[in-house]
Amino acid sequence: MKVRVAINGFGTIGKRVADAVAKQPDLELVGVTKTRPNFEGRRASEKGYRLFVAGEGKPSDFEAVGLRISGTVEELLGQVDVVVDASPDQVGRENRKLYERFGIPAVFQGGEKADVAEASFNALGNYLACRGKRSLRVVSCNTTGLARAASVLLGRWGIDHWEVTLVRRAADPAESKKGPLNGIVPTFQLPSHHGPDVRTIYPDLTIATTAVVVPTTLMHVHVNHVRLRHAPRDAEEVIAAFRASPRFHVFAPWERVEGTPQVMEYARDRGIGFNDMMENVIWHDGLRLDGRDLYFFQAIHQESIVVPENIDAIRAMLDLAPNGPASVAITDRALGLGVP
Ligand SMILES: NC(=O)c1ccc[n+]([C@@H]2O[C@H](COP(=O)([O-])OP(=O)(O)OC[C@H]3O[C@@H](n4cnc5c(N)ncnc54)[C@H](OP(=O)(O)O)[C@@H]3O)[C@@H](O)[C@H]2O)c1
Repeated sequence: MKVRVAINGFGTIGKRVADAVAKQPDLELVGVTKTRPNFEGRRASEKGYRLFVAGEGKPSDFEAVGLRISGTVEELLGQVDVVVDASPDQVGRENRKLYERFGIPAVFQGGEKADVAEASFNALGNYLACRGKRSLRVVSCNTTGLARAASVLLGRWGIDHWEVTLVRRAADPAESKKGPLNGIVPTFQLPSHHGPDVRTIYPDLTIATTAVVVPTTLMHVHVNHVRLRHAPRDAEEVIAAFRASPRFHVFAPWERVEGTPQVMEYARDRGIGFNDMMENVIWHDGLRLDGRDLYFFQAIHQESIVVPENIDAIRAMLDLAPNGPASVAITDRALGLGVP
């Protein structure tokens, strides 16, 4: 029997996780929630997803525009084995009380503080430690990207020290009220909160992060300097390790991918998910090794990188796969990731 899943919060992350759930062989999407009608609610309905009303929403508002409602979020929670909360930052913590009342395991997102859940989660990082938990927080897009890179580097060469500058996108493509529109805004929290967040996955990792926000909607870029514990043979060995890992995509020099515009154009050509790039993007040309000092760029598609992680978090909580690689393989096959 398939595990029945609810998605509470149907925005940028929730609508992607809903599609990903619907594609998994062992999961069933029971329904999604909206607090008010909009184009995303219309799309959910067109796809045949059952819509439930969350928060302060009124069924009559949906019925007035012809959107069929199957009940309240409480009625949805009564029909499922697990819920993925994809509501806005801090709202997940409020929703937690509801999930506890229904006694169902819950996956939260990275906009919540770490103590919203029993543990923070990354599939390549700490799947086994998260098995059987009643609540997990999938860490943010930037933290997910860093945790994935850590899994490759720590496992092979160890890390003495890691410094990263995160060049962060100002807004998601659908957001029209955020900025900056013209400017570069440094984050004055030094170091930034991302390093401590990575340590919710790898507690012993020495990592210091700083961040600036730039006027783009197309991905974050991380500028990394890692002092490895043991020197790789050469840069090609590091590239090969990234290529061999799931959830990494390495662009070769001949592909002429100069930056994030071509990465997202490739994603549109490929057509997975919402034309998403769910993998960490590494440029072959953007990686150098000098003894134990590794320098590399990686790009992170903020809207989609956490999507497969949400699926693996469900499997970890409900013990549906023996380990991270097994869950990742099921998830990625269903999503079409890693298939040339
Ligand atoms: N976007 C990213 O780049 C990104 C990346 C990684 C992680 N995250 C995290 O993922 C979470 C969701 O972010 P998002 O970008 O998907 O936000 P979003 O696009 O604003 O979507 C959240 C949706 O939740 C709905 N909502 C509002 N109040 C609700 C409630 N009480 N109960 C249920 N749903 C409610 C809203 O839809 P309606 O009110 O219209 O129904 C809204 O569309 C946050 O924790 C965020 O930090 C975001």
